[in-house]
Amino acid sequence: MKIYKKVFPLIFFVAITVLTSGIGFFVLKNIMPGDDTLSARCWKEVAPYLDQNLSIQKRVDDLIGRMTEWEKIGQMALIEKNSIRDLGEITKYNLGALLSGGGAGPKAETPLAWLKMVNSFQSATKNTCLKIPLLYGIDAVHGHANVLGATVFPHAIGLGASHDADLVKRVASATAQEMAATGIYWSFSPNLDVAQDIRWGKTYETFGSNTENVAKLGVAYLQGVQDYSENYFKVLATAKHFIGGGSMQYGTARNKDFKVEEGNISLDEKSLRQVHLVPFQKAVENGAQVVMVGTATWNGKMNTSNYYLLTDVLKTELGFSGFVVSDWYGVYQVSNTRYDSLVKSINAGVDMVMTPFEYKDFMSNMQKALANGDISRERLDDAVRRILTAKFKIGLFDRPEVVQSGLSVIGSVQHRALAREAVRKSQVLLKNENLALPLSASLEKIIVAGSVADNLGRQAGGWTTEWQGIDGNYGVAGTTVLDAIKNAVAKNTKVEYNKQGNFSMGNNLADVGIAVVGEKPYAEGWGDDINPSLSAEDLETIKKVKEKSKKLIVIIISGRPLDIKKYINNWDGVVAAWLPGSEGAGVTDVLFGDYNFSGWLPAKWPL
Ligand code: GLC
Repeated sequence: MKIYKKVFPLIFFVAITVLTSGIGFFVLKNIMPGDDTLSARCWKEVAPYLDQNLSIQKRVDDLIGRMTEWEKIGQMALIEKNSIRDLGEITKYNLGALLSGGGAGPKAETPLAWLKMVNSFQSATKNTCLKIPLLYGIDAVHGHANVLGATVFPHAIGLGASHDADLVKRVASATAQEMAATGIYWSFSPNLDVAQDIRWGKTYETFGSNTENVAKLGVAYLQGVQDYSENYFKVLATAKHFIGGGSMQYGTARNKDFKVEEGNISLDEKSLRQVHLVPFQKAVENGAQVVMVGTATWNGKMNTSNYYLLTDVLKTELGFSGFVVSDWYGVYQVSNTRYDSLVKSINAGVDMVMTPFEYKDFMSNMQKALANGDISRERLDDAVRRILTAKFKIGLFDRPEVVQSGLSVIGSVQHRALAREAVRKSQVLLKNENLALPLSASLEKIIVAGSVADNLGRQAGGWTTEWQGIDGNYGVAGTTVLDAIKNAVAKNTKVEYNKQGNFSMGNNLADVGIAVVGEKPYAEGWGDDINPSLSAEDLETIKKVKEKSKKLIVIIISGRPLDIKKYINNWDGVVAAWLPGSEGAGVTDVLFGDYNFSGWLPAKWPL
C-alpha cells in the first residue's frame, strides 16, 4: 500500500504531462498558426523536400507530410500585395502567393524597386517553419509593362494579327526574362479567350476571334514563358479565362458599370467546346501548370463553381494536373455568403483563391469548412499538392535570390528590337488606293496629327504602368509614332505636327498627311462599348489633315476593329496598328516600305 501511495503522484504527473503535450501538439499542428519553428518537422538543410536530386513527387510527398492544416490553407490563398500591411502577416498566415493587381507596384516603379519589394515579401517566408517560398503573380500581358522602363510589346490582338507562332514565343520568352529579373515567376498570361464580340473591353488581350489561331499562338506564348531552358521552368504561365471568355452576351454583365465583362455565355455545350475548349486542351497538352477560371457564367452558372467544367472536363477529361486559380473576387461572386461561395468553389475544383484582400476571412472559413467536413481533407491535400508541384517546377525552392545585376535585361536593346519586329509584323493594311503606301522617305513635306500621334500611353493601351493604362507620355518609355516618323524621313523632309490638325499652310498642300488616331487606354469591363469607333475629335482632325494634304494616311491605334465604314472612302491609305506598345518605329518600318505589310486581321473588321 505504502509503495502505491509513493508511486501514484509520479504516475499522475507523467499522465498529465503526456496529455497536455499531446493536446498542445494537436493545437499547434492544426489550429494555431504554425509557429512551432523549432520542431523536428520544420525546415532542415537535409530535409528531402529541399533535395534537388529527388523527384518532384517525392519532394511534395515529404513537404506535405510535414505541413499543418493551417500551413496547407495558407498555400491556397492568393493575396493582393497591397493588403499586406506588415510582412509578419505573411509569416503568421503562411501565405503562399501574392499578386500585383493592375499597376500595384512599389512607390517608385523602377525595376530595382520592384526587385526589392518582391524580395522583401519572400524574406518573410524565411521565418516560417517550412520556409515555403511565395509565388508572386502579375499581369505581364504585353511585356512586364507594370515596370517603368520595361519593353512594352504589342498587346495580344496585334500578335494575333502577326499569326506568327515563332515571334510570339520569342516575345513571351523575353517577357519572362524581364519578369524573372525582378524575382516574379508567375504571369497571368496567355489569354486564351476567343473574342466573338469586339464590343468586349478585353478583346485586345486576346489573340482574336479565330479558335485555331488562338490555340496556336497560345501554345507558343505558353512555351515561351515556361521555357524549360534550365532544370526548371523560367516563369509559370496561366491559361485564362476558363472557359468561354469572348462569348459573353452583350448587356448581361453582373456589374452594372459593364456590358460584357462578367456576363453570361449562352452557348450550348457543343459550341462552347468547338469555339473555346481547343486552346485550353492544347495548352494542357503543352505543359500548362495553371488555369485561371473566369468570372463569366455559362447558362446562368458561375464557371468558378462549376464542377463539371473544372473537374470533369478540365482535370479529368483534359488531364490537367496543375492548379486552378480563381479570378479577382471570382469565388465570392458565387453565392450570397462567403462561406458558401468558398465551399462551392473549392469543391468544384478551384485550388487557389484570388481573394484578393480578405485572407483572414478566407483562412477562418477554410478552417471552419474542414472542421465541418464541408470541404474534405482529401480536397485540401489535392489542391495543395497541385500548388506545391508548380512551385517545385519553377524552381522556387532551388533558385538563388534574385540580385540587382540581372536587371539590365529589362528594356534591353535586344528586347526593344524584338518588340519593333513584333509591331512590324502586326501591322495590317486595311486600304491602299492611289498607291498611297508605302511612303517615300524623301518627300518634301509631311503633316502629322491625331490624338495618338504623340501619346505613348495610348500607343501602349491598358495594363501599362497602371491597370487602366496611361493617357500621355509619362510612365512609359519608348518611341511615339510621331518620333518614329521624324526618325524615318530624310533630313531635308519637313515634318510638321499639330495634334488637332490645325496647319496654316495657305494653298500649299503637304505631299502626305498622316492622322494617327484611335482609342484611349482602358482595361476589362471599362472598355465594353456598344459601338467601338473613332472619337468626334479624331474624325475632325482627319478632315483637317485631308484638306491640307495630297494623300491622306490614317493609322488606327486601337484594341479592336473600330467602326469606320462611313469615313474610309475618303481616306487613301488605312493601317490597323492595334496597340503597338513602346516601339513606334515598327509602324514606320512598314509605312515607309523598309518591310512589307505582313499582318492580317485576327478578327473581322467590318469595312
Ligand atoms: C482581372 C482579370 C484577370 C487578371 C486578374 C488579376 O480581373 O480578369 O485577367 O489576371 O484580374 O489582375
